[in-house]
Amino acid sequence: MPPLNLAPATPEDYRRLAERRLPQTLFDYIDGGSGDEATLRANVQDFARLELKQRVMRDVSNLDTRIELLGEQWSMPLALAPIGMAGMMARRAEVQAVRAADALGIPFCLSTVAICSLEEVAKAAKRPFWFQLYMLRDRGAVGDLLQRAKAVGVKTLVFTVDLAVLGARHRDVRNGMGAGVGALARLRAGLIDYLLHPGWLRDVAIGGRPHVFGNLANYVPTAASPADFREWVDAQFDPSATWKDMEQLRRDWDGRLVIKGVLSPEDALAAVGAGADAVIVSNHGGRQLDGASSSINMLPRVADALKGRASVLMDGGVRGGHDIARALACGANAVLMGRPWIWTVAARGGDGLVSLLKAMRADLRTAMALAGVTSAAEINAELVERR
Ligand code: FNR
Repeated sequence: MPPLNLAPATPEDYRRLAERRLPQTLFDYIDGGSGDEATLRANVQDFARLELKQRVMRDVSNLDTRIELLGEQWSMPLALAPIGMAGMMARRAEVQAVRAADALGIPFCLSTVAICSLEEVAKAAKRPFWFQLYMLRDRGAVGDLLQRAKAVGVKTLVFTVDLAVLGARHRDVRNGMGAGVGALARLRAGLIDYLLHPGWLRDVAIGGRPHVFGNLANYVPTAASPADFREWVDAQFDPSATWKDMEQLRRDWDGRLVIKGVLSPEDALAAVGAGADAVIVSNHGGRQLDGASSSINMLPRVADALKGRASVLMDGGVRGGHDIARALACGANAVLMGRPWIWTVAARGGDGLVSLLKAMRADLRTAMALAGVTSAAEINAELVERR
């Protein structure tokens, strides 16, 4: 592993920098998963088990990483996944991220529980961004958020379905971020942690207005702190939701609909039956059902079941351009990544994210060239072998 004073090159380098810069509670919140974190680890490790096939003498002088998907041109098959509370890790992080995504020509997806609102991100964005929505008990808020998204030009809605209840996140509990911890105890534990990280304190806590969840402020006017918003959100996840609710959502949203968080062929087929244009094979980055399969492991089965009836995306464990190639070989049309972008923005801001994304694109090009493939759109199962 390179020393930290050299230029960061990989997501892991940015991760280590983020760990230094962020208070422990916040770093653990983004870095951790649920339970024993077995699924979190499997997401990354199962990528490494896919061997890329080296091919030679195939004229790879012209490489094309571009794709067209969901009515958009992408400079490479990678999008930035929705990350809740990103603006607590870096100043106005969602705005920094959408600018970086625009600079590279790839989609950015804004979380329901973002710090920056739809309207603030829209002001900074040069091309349409995506919006992620959870099924909230407050269906009035759901309807209002759909209208706001439409009003600012969102064309692709990502509807997350793997959060019927919140996964057990032990690191958050240990850090006093779990339910049942009093406000005073939370403050006392947080204060020391925050004071030990003056860079973050100055730039984000004082300069970055990270205490309001921009999309939800209208619906929780009494919330005075992030903990108040979190409490509201936790109580809003609707465990009674079924595909019937999705059908209603499909009627209420006339843009593109992407269902995020299916991990089985059966659920993927149900999502398409309820009107999805695309599914994201995902286990929420190993933050929900610990012990569930890795996303990359389930991807070929989902892709086979859908047989091109809808686009297939995946996320969980993508840590470089080579992983993008591997996922495409397993049947994905594109991938998303979560932690790498928030580690990077926390460590080095939007400029750092532009550098990381360029490095990932270069990495993808190298993988394609050395595997003898010239176009990302033409990557198929022949590119990999499972160990
Ligand atoms: C998430 N994820 C997520 N998903 C979603 O639909 N809405 C959200 O608000 C969030 N929030 C969130 C916060 C943090 C800190 C993490 C790490 C993840 C899940 C995310 O979109 C994506 O599925 C995973 O991050 C993908 O796994 P990797 O790339 O982090 O391995």
